[in-house]
Amino acid sequence: MDNPVRPHASHGTAEPAKPHIREATAMDTDAIVAILIASKEGSFPHLIDDHDRDVPFWTNRWRRYLSEGSRAQQSRGDGFAFLAESDGRPVGFAAYHHTTRHGADAELQAIYVLREAQGRGLGTALLWVIGGRLYAEGSRTMCVGYDSRSPYKRFYLKHGAVEINRHWARWQDLGMFAQVKAEER
Ligand SMILES: CC(C)(COP(=O)(O)OP(=O)(O)OC[C@H]1O[C@@H](n2cnc3c(N)ncnc32)[C@H](O)[C@@H]1OP(=O)(O)O)[C@@H](O)C(=O)NCCC(=O)NCCS
Repeated sequence: MDNPVRPHASHGTAEPAKPHIREATAMDTDAIVAILIASKEGSFPHLIDDHDRDVPFWTNRWRRYLSEGSRAQQSRGDGFAFLAESDGRPVGFAAYHHTTRHGADAELQAIYVLREAQGRGLGTALLWVIGGRLYAEGSRTMCVGYDSRSPYKRFYLKHGAVEINRHWARWQDLGMFAQVKAEER
């Protein structure tokens, strides 16, 4: 099995540098918002509108998420994010908080990789960091919401989430993230 924290080499080019994944703080808000907007623009420009490009709005939203916690429905009021950097440049992030939504222990709030950095394992690495941490602390299930029109939803299903309705999927057992880690040892 591929090492999920190692990006795949792209064919015919030098192997990209191994990403560095670290926990983000509110100081990383600008980098997170830049990735969020650029990833949407590059990935599904036909699905976004001016609100998605509103930098002050999303900066305020994400700074509060990281400093005060999520205000999403049924959130338990915390909020965490991890940032992936390649050659010292932020290229992706993922965020989660604890919840009771859809009967899950946690909600994957967002996962975004810049268009030019997609398909090299970065999203998988970010997902594994979050799934592994949640499992280690005792969480067992995680939900994620998405736009049902986005082709990217297959990323979640590929990684073990099960659709519970048109807009939500849930990982029923986060132990899958711990099992892969154990196999790597
Ligand atoms: C979804 C996303 C985070 C995955 O990160 P990534 O680094 O590209 O993914 P990885 O290289 O680890 O894994 C590749 C998988 O990602 C998904 N993916 C990557 N590029 C894709 C594309 N252009 N179209 C559809 N799915 C794609 C696929 O599931 C792919 O595996 P598959 O082709 O075998 O199905 C990233 O592609 C992204 O930021 N997409 C746009 C933003 C988004 O939709 N985020 C989720 C909504 S919150």
